[in-house]
Amino acid sequence: MARSAIINVMVQAAMKAGRSLSRDFGEVQNLQVSLKGPGDYVSQADRKAEEIIFAELSKARPGYAFLMEERGVVDGEDDQHRWIVDPLDGTTNFLHGLPIFSISIALERQGQIVAAVIYNPAMDELYTAERGGGAFQNDRRLRVAGRSKLSDTVIGTGIPHMGRGHHGNYLVELRNVMAETAGVRRMGSAALDLAYVAAGRLDGFWEIGLSPWDIAAGVLLIREAGGFISDMDGGQTMLESGSVVAGNETIHRALLKTLKTPLAKR
Ligand code: IPD
Ligand code: CA
Ligand code: CA
Repeated sequence: MARSAIINVMVQAAMKAGRSLSRDFGEVQNLQVSLKGPGDYVSQADRKAEEIIFAELSKARPGYAFLMEERGVVDGEDDQHRWIVDPLDGTTNFLHGLPIFSISIALERQGQIVAAVIYNPAMDELYTAERGGGAFQNDRRLRVAGRSKLSDTVIGTGIPHMGRGHHGNYLVELRNVMAETAGVRRMGSAALDLAYVAAGRLDGFWEIGLSPWDIAAGVLLIREAGGFISDMDGGQTMLESGSVVAGNETIHRALLKTLKTPLAKR
């Protein structure tokens, strides 16, 4: 499959950072048994991966702005383009030696996401999408799952943890979804969850309290795989509100409805 120049730039950055993360992941597995644990090591691995991506993308496209998890906002002379980057999505998994983590890179042009790369180095799975050009896993064209009955679906989610609010509301949402579906999964990397919806592995996904770098690339992957993605109210404020609901057209609609059903009625 011939990739465009911009996707090549993004893939190269993601793969280079992926090699660095993979080396560090090996060390993290050794450090599990140490008393101090791998915490500091993981923070370094995260920053190192971000440095690599920043250097690669800045070299290939000088002047583009950045929004990165660790560095935050980096202004560029080019006010049309912005990279949105999470160098390590799934930090808790990485820290615990669970091989479900990813690098997420999106390119925004005039406020619209136009290119996306999500890469899981532990499984060597690469997801790419370009606006109007479809979504791919490695060289395979992606399409969201076709299931239309909620009762047949497996739905991904993110469970809010210590220090995050919304625990009570989340339990209502979870109760509603678990009562109507074949299963709920919590993978631990929102970017990969969205890629899995694009790939038809998950029939749908919802989470609140996310950041733009968790979501940006996944939004384009899902759209390009023929899926639907919105905030919890069905609007398009995902990057601002940090909430997402995704699936094929039918499942997306059904999930929106189910998530909003008050507990008292069940
Ligand atoms: C986290 C992961 C996780 C989601 C959290 C995110 P991080 O990102 O995407 O799946 O539930 O809300 O913060 O911290 O590992 O980059
Ligand atoms: Ca993240
Ligand atoms: Ca991160």
